[in-house]
Amino acid sequence: MTQQRYTITTALPYANGPLHLGHVAGVYIPADIYVRYLRAKNEDVIFIGGTDEHGVPITIKAKNEGVTPQQVVDKYHKIIGDSLKQLGITLDVFSKTTSKQHYKTASDLFKKLESEGAFTEQVTEQYYDEANNQFLADRYITGTCPHCANEKAYGDQCEKCGSTLNATDLINPKSALSGNKPVLKQTKHWFLPLDKYEPWLKQWILEDHKEWKTNVYGQCKSWLESGLHPRAITRDLDWGIPVPVAGGEGKVLYVWFDAPIGYNSFTQELLANDATRKWEDYWKKDGNSKLVHFIGKDNIVFHCIIFPSMLKLFGDYILPDNVPANEFLNLEGEKFSTSGNWAVWLHEFLADFPDKTDVLRYTLCSNMPETKDADFTWKDFQAKNNNELAANLGNFVNRAFVLTHKFFEGKVPALSTLEEIDKNTLAQAKEFNAKISDSLDKYRFREALSELMKLSNLGNKYLADTEPWKIKDNKERVGTILRIALEIAGKISILGLPFLPETTTKMATWLGISNTQWSDANK
Ligand code: MF3
Ligand code: ZN
Repeated sequence: MTQQRYTITTALPYANGPLHLGHVAGVYIPADIYVRYLRAKNEDVIFIGGTDEHGVPITIKAKNEGVTPQQVVDKYHKIIGDSLKQLGITLDVFSKTTSKQHYKTASDLFKKLESEGAFTEQVTEQYYDEANNQFLADRYITGTCPHCANEKAYGDQCEKCGSTLNATDLINPKSALSGNKPVLKQTKHWFLPLDKYEPWLKQWILEDHKEWKTNVYGQCKSWLESGLHPRAITRDLDWGIPVPVAGGEGKVLYVWFDAPIGYNSFTQELLANDATRKWEDYWKKDGNSKLVHFIGKDNIVFHCIIFPSMLKLFGDYILPDNVPANEFLNLEGEKFSTSGNWAVWLHEFLADFPDKTDVLRYTLCSNMPETKDADFTWKDFQAKNNNELAANLGNFVNRAFVLTHKFFEGKVPALSTLEEIDKNTLAQAKEFNAKISDSLDKYRFREALSELMKLSNLGNKYLADTEPWKIKDNKERVGTILRIALEIAGKISILGLPFLPETTTKMATWLGISNTQWSDANK
């Protein structure tokens, strides 16, 4: 059997605005923790990200600002990429769906499936804005949601109740361009016959992937039980990847058809000049790679139902092994809202607190919206910094180092005779490698981080119980205690790396234990 590989992806944010803390907590932090963990275990992993540069929101933004869509996406691609780097998100590639390679990959795959008869073609009635002589796709239409009466639902989705819509489902539809009531006009589109895949999807998800997170499994189940329908994968728009077959003039691929293919295109870009690895290793069944998509809950249907159906059609491609989607993070009790300007923007946070990236990573991980929505508040950010990071972890590491300097000129002292408390403490400390690994293997990031903090608690308690600063005339005993404290600090620096990379890298340098691996935590 080929060795195990990992293909880890992060949802591609639309390049029509900067990232906010909700994106970071829901997608990038968990993905980066997971990837750093895999790398520390010497696993063969690629970590893929980029921006989603098609779709109606981008054209609307361009129109409002009087610039081209390309100008919009170029601007935000840079802001998003820079901010992720500064936060320590270690993507192997950060590309964009307007790249040449991506146009080629997406067009080729569409052509392949089209020639194999995988799609159906249907003449449908779509809304049309007569004042602007334009079809109105997705977000170009707003209206009242038939499910929850939200008056600001879009032609493809209601953000209030989360239902996926067709523009013709909306009550009182309005054109986002002119504000007029649109008319229906006939136009031809290509459809992915999802109904055909329903039996297979039911087996693959509901029977074979019962281990998926309950929020993900539950959403899939309700989709599958209410029945799947053919879904249009082309649009009448002038921004996107042109439909590459006869009759496709003036039409583009639906953004949700092209975007997830980006994960594959970006892998091809990453490995184009790699002498030892090829992209197929990470995408074809022979390569034995585990595909894991990190996303937010609004993307579940696309990554669990639509994209897997496409991957299956592509032929010998792997399917996602897991899709550990998160719920949403709110800000001070309210939904993050770009249009309502209610957000903490990542690049602004980083400009204001350039040396607080680990504090942010800590706060967002300990409060990750793993099973239900969570809330970010500045009070909590402050409290986590002061009462947890500083009072627990900082205090322990500081005491271990300061005392070692005071009594042993900064040299790591040797162990001598072990007392009961020493043996107990060492035995307990040894368990954290397995505990943290187990939580991470199950995508339980909050639990993993809280175990790490328990390890630091253990160190604090050990120092408080043994009180080495009070021991007179027994340097060996003091040495043993500090040695054990430093070993715990060493474990923290190894097991804490995925969560707090800056802090733990500094700690490892101070301890002189750089280039460690996950298993070294138990040495
Ligand atoms: N741009 C989409 C969003 O922000 C996510 C796209 S993820 C991918 O909701 F699958 F398309 F890549
Ligand atoms: Zn609704």
